[in-house]
Amino acid sequence: MKNIKAIIFDAYGTLFDVNSAAKMCKNKIGNKWESFANYWRTTQLEYTWLRSLMGNHKNFWQITEDSLDKAMKAFQIESKMRNELLELYKILSPYPEVKETLEKLREKKYKLALLSNGTPNLLNELVKNNNLQNLFDDIFSIEEVGIFKPSSKVYDIPIKKYKIQKEEVAFLSANTWDVSGGGNYGYTSIWVNRNNNIFDKLDFIPNKEIKKLNELLELI
Ligand code: LAC
Repeated sequence: MKNIKAIIFDAYGTLFDVNSAAKMCKNKIGNKWESFANYWRTTQLEYTWLRSLMGNHKNFWQITEDSLDKAMKAFQIESKMRNELLELYKILSPYPEVKETLEKLREKKYKLALLSNGTPNLLNELVKNNNLQNLFDDIFSIEEVGIFKPSSKVYDIPIKKYKIQKEEVAFLSANTWDVSGGGNYGYTSIWVNRNNNIFDKLDFIPNKEIKKLNELLELI
């Protein structure tokens, strides 16, 4: 972990809990809320990859709506829940250790940024709503390049902006495929493995693995 100049974070699933929207509706959705949330998330990601491969881009918010529609059908969720779930998705909660970790990192010399599939508007609102707006130098959205992760065009964005080497970026994601994407690109890639998951077999081993974001403070 030498020569790190920028610390770049994935947003959804890494800083913000993507299941928190469905969780807040668990009284209405019932026991199936978690399977439903996972199905929604998996479908959303599949749509990002499929659209990137098909060269048929739609923004992340539209994809979030499309994947919700499929998930609601699959789990027979009442249509009146649609708006509530979408509004909650705009104000997802951060994981408990996120704010304090970012505040401590802010005291150090690194550039701090988000690099996410989200639209600029979604990301700015999410950050502001959770009072994290002063903790980042930049919020990078894939909308700048019109293709989703793990395209190298996405991982190029901060390199071009900061004019630094790929390995000078510590890239943190809880999404295994995003850790592989960033690592394959050349970042120093760190996996945030909160749930004791198994890593992908995509010919890349994370440079480091941590269980919570605050463990990063001991690495740098
Ligand atoms: C993002 C997705 C990968 O924030 O969670 O880019």
